Amino acid sequence: MIVILLGPPGAGKGTQAERLAKTFGLVQLSTGDMLREEVRGGTDLGKEAKKIMDAGGLVSDAIIIGMISSRIDSLKGKGIILDGFPRTTAQAEALDKMLDDKGLKLDHVIQLKVDEDALVERLGGRFACAKCGAGYHDTFSPTKQDGVCDRCGSTEFSRRSDDNPQTVRSRLVAYREQTAPILPYYEKKGALKAIDGMGEMDEVFRRIRGIVES
Ligand code: AP5
Repeated sequence: MIVILLGPPGAGKGTQAERLAKTFGLVQLSTGDMLREEVRGGTDLGKEAKKIMDAGGLVSDAIIIGMISSRIDSLKGKGIILDGFPRTTAQAEALDKMLDDKGLKLDHVIQLKVDEDALVERLGGRFACAKCGAGYHDTFSPTKQDGVCDRCGSTEFSRRSDDNPQTVRSRLVAYREQTAPILPYYEKKGALKAIDGMGEMDEVFRRIRGIVES
């Protein structure tokens, strides 16, 4: 099964992709995570990507498409959940061609709809364990014990450098101008299913699950 989760920054793509991956045995492919891995590794691509990510722009289609294509090849037909890709019309078209060439089929394109005020609130309170990467939110998903990671017990946490108010504004503009135009692309194909991404994480997951199991 191949599923795309679409939505603006903070819509809950990563949160829900992780749950889908666990529940349905899919592999989560997040282009944002792949780029952050390059940044941490100090590669040339990471250095270039960091400037763009910190400014709230989009990394070039050629880099992203190459990165995803080789990752899909390495999965040898396993089910995939795409989180943060595609993000431009060129990426959506390249994905169609890539899947055709590899003999794979896209099953669901799920759009998470979330009010802009809620997006800003979600991104402003997001943090993660610096050791295992478990994700949290100051208000909506805090650690059970203050300052201690539920998953690995670490007491070190980090916040994403692109979650500051100025960069968040630029990311929302990039979404509106470059990513939202791909919604009609999938609508025309009859593949797009929009769901309400507001409400409790469990409730949003039930809505997504309903589509994936249909
Ligand atoms: P990326 O990492 O993909 O960031 P994004 O799309 O901006 O999405 P986020 O990860 O910020 O949000 P999310 O929707 O995953 O929300 P989350 O579940 O974490 O990309 C970063 C950058 O990399 C881009 O800006 C770009 O520069 C570059 N890039 C990446 N892919 C690219 C591509 N394909 N092409 C070009 N450039 C690319 O949730 C957010 C917070 O809200 C969390 O704290 C969570 O706990 C909380 N939350 C989640 N759901 C709920 C809920 N229902 N109620 C309350 N709180 C909730």
